[in-house]
Amino acid sequence: MCGIVGAISKDRNVLPILITGLKNLEYRGYDSAGVAYLKNKKINIVKTSGKIINLENKLNKNDKSNIGIAHTRWATHGKATSINAHPHSVKHITIVHNGIIENYEEIKDMLEKENYSFKSSTDTEVACALLNYYYEEFRDVDRTIKEFMKKIIGSYAIVMIIDNDLDNIYVLKKESPLVIGISDNTNIVASDIRAIVKYTNKYYILNDFEYAKVNTNDVIIKSVNGDILSKELHTINLEEIDNSKGHYKHYMLKEIMEQNKTILRTVLSFIEDGIDSLSKLPDLTKYKEIYIVGCGTAYHAGLVAKYLFEEITNTKCNVYLASEFRYQNNFLSKDTLTIFISQSGETADTISSLKLVKSKGYPTLGIINVDNSTISYLVDKCLYTKAGSEIAVASTKAYTAQIALLSVLVLSHGLRNKTISEDYVLKVIDQFKNIDNLISPLLDDKDLYLSIAKKIYKEKDIFYIGRGLDYYLSMEGALKLKEISYIHSEAYSAGELKHGTISLIEKSTPVISSATNTKLNAKTISNLEEVLARGADIYLITDDNYKDKSFTIINIPKVSIFIKPILVIIPYQLIAYYTALLKGTDIDKPKNLAKSVTVE
Ligand code: M6R
Repeated sequence: MCGIVGAISKDRNVLPILITGLKNLEYRGYDSAGVAYLKNKKINIVKTSGKIINLENKLNKNDKSNIGIAHTRWATHGKATSINAHPHSVKHITIVHNGIIENYEEIKDMLEKENYSFKSSTDTEVACALLNYYYEEFRDVDRTIKEFMKKIIGSYAIVMIIDNDLDNIYVLKKESPLVIGISDNTNIVASDIRAIVKYTNKYYILNDFEYAKVNTNDVIIKSVNGDILSKELHTINLEEIDNSKGHYKHYMLKEIMEQNKTILRTVLSFIEDGIDSLSKLPDLTKYKEIYIVGCGTAYHAGLVAKYLFEEITNTKCNVYLASEFRYQNNFLSKDTLTIFISQSGETADTISSLKLVKSKGYPTLGIINVDNSTISYLVDKCLYTKAGSEIAVASTKAYTAQIALLSVLVLSHGLRNKTISEDYVLKVIDQFKNIDNLISPLLDDKDLYLSIAKKIYKEKDIFYIGRGLDYYLSMEGALKLKEISYIHSEAYSAGELKHGTISLIEKSTPVISSATNTKLNAKTISNLEEVLARGADIYLITDDNYKDKSFTIINIPKVSIFIKPILVIIPYQLIAYYTALLKGTDIDKPKNLAKSVTVE
């Protein structure tokens, strides 16, 4: 995912601010980086492919500047080369850009007829040329931005400097986040507050079709029509954006270990005063059907919620992968609530699906971890998971926070549609309040997970199986393992094995499973016996007693169905972590993956 930082100061060299800001956005993934700043009264641009350290090495250590803009790019239009890296410059204008200009080809054709030529294959250079085109025509920044915003189809957070107006930085926003951090004599703009937090805790948020002129004394925010807006000054909550690794070797391990706090933090305001607090959650009884849309781990959290909505509250719930949902006939109506789940709030397919539902005027709800993210702005109502910064690419604490938040939503719905009793709900609430004691022993069982990891880390194929809720959890278990250990791992419904997959089972093939449903366990155990008979090694997470079986058993306590997914997933997460550790992979930044997938 791309990252933006820009800074202007009366008395400081902004280059270290820009580089530190980029480093704080590094975890989102990128493949090139660049910076533009004032040197010998001219704008100097330094760009490189690869890591930010390459950019630092390319910068002259003695350079100092009071104004600059910087960017990390995740390639969309054109390869990850230094030519395609931002900033892009066309005559008077230099910009960095997050987002996608959808009509860039049409604009490029138009500009080529006006004798513009292009060095890169990016949509950003076209946007830059368009800004220059309007700037040369009108010689007025407000008019330039207004015309630009009218012309562009797509999304953008743009930070711009103009060669004959170097006392100001300009920022423009549509559907891609932008904040303006305020501190003494120095103002910093960025795509994420993590880039500014070292320098200030006060910031403004720009909304769509707003822009700002930022200088060392002042920030003037305007609407597309040029009207000056009075905006709220926000304060950063430091706890929720903690970017440090603490004493852990990897962010992923730290984030797994934090789940004893993040789950309760997410649901606390909805359970602290017992049943009454649940009424703070939206009333879903007016809807006939719930749709849930997400990608990857967020989709898996949606599957858990589907199970709970349908089994516990007798409410029909369909879950869709956002990349499919956006292109299919979805039979939406005003009686359908569509819930969008996303850690980042920036996932391209989820955003497009949301826009589709909104374009028809149907109701939407977000379950989002990152506030001020695009999805959080677009949904009718947003509920926040309070997992805090999730930096490792593999999602862990965001997933359990999503499940916890969806669980309290299901509980409040069950009370409202009278499918569950107050007593039942109070027991679940007690278990949520006691979550630290329930999960801490599982978090601490390092030796067990390491011993399993030692047995499986050299394998090529690993199967995860389960039934009902356990099947949905096995999907998340398999995803965790494959994305960080690069071992091929697949989840199958245990009942489906005989329909094809069992032919892949050989001597020592690891089969990992969970069986936590009294009604279905006997069936899952028979399926495990079938693969055992074909030579598989079985690892079973269960709240039942199967000590006489030839399986490696991970026991979890007997808890409510709302708490089970959280207890089952912790061993899955830690088995994946220790397996990847033994394989020596780049656990926090697995190859080919980005933290936020902001392109289709
Ligand atoms: O930010 P989001 O929750 O929308 O991201 C969705 C997926 O890209 C994400 O969950 C991905 O599958 C994770 N890397 C899985 O660990």
